[in-house]
Amino acid sequence: MNQDQLKQLVGEAARDEVLKLPTGQILGVGTGSTANYFIDALAPHKAHFLGTVSSSNATTERLLKHGFKVMDPNEVDHLPAYVDGADEIDPSGYMIKGGGGALTREKIIASMAKQFICICDASKQVPVLGNFALPVEIIPFSKGIVTQELIKLGGTVRLRVSKETCADLGQTSSQPFVTDNGGWILDVAGLKIANPLELEAQMNQIAGVITVGLFANKKADVLLVSNTSGVSRITF
Ligand code: 5RP
Repeated sequence: MNQDQLKQLVGEAARDEVLKLPTGQILGVGTGSTANYFIDALAPHKAHFLGTVSSSNATTERLLKHGFKVMDPNEVDHLPAYVDGADEIDPSGYMIKGGGGALTREKIIASMAKQFICICDASKQVPVLGNFALPVEIIPFSKGIVTQELIKLGGTVRLRVSKETCADLGQTSSQPFVTDNGGWILDVAGLKIANPLELEAQMNQIAGVITVGLFANKKADVLLVSNTSGVSRITF
């Protein structure tokens, strides 16, 4: 089984998991390729839910295409569950997220949910977080000072860029990647995150930081993880 097939397998397991919830509730939906498999698997059962709250424009587009109702989070007080992927997850359920750039809305929706159901293939499980560069969404105005502060915490910092090709000139140029909120992302490599709660709190104090892609204060409650033998369910 390749990684895409493993993502699909766990997406289907997440569908079965959320269909155990009572009908008529609102579901939080994450972003990324694993979340996309989940959305596709859930589509035939969309009537089970009153609606969804989406963590990115890309996810909203996919949900609407399937006919799900997508609700404004400001009109929802409570979600029974939020289902999303991760870039890394450690044995305590702490995660690095934001590889797809949706970390801020993901963290907001996760904070509204009773249960964070993390879905991933086994390659995302790590003993210690930090091999995957930690995404930090910032206000563009603050890039210089936030970069300096993140370097002090021991990381190597790189501004995330998106490549654009000019068809007329056949040239490629790099522009800062802009999030759904108009923020930029600094990817911080070289951290060995022994204490995710402490690092998340420290980074949250830096002026100009919108969201740190460390999900420690709001970690996973349930992990569905796939490997070639099937899907395991772990609770934290
Ligand atoms: C997006 C995320 C994703 O959940 C994370 O990047 C995992 O993505 P994928 O399921 O494509 O491996 O945090 O911001």
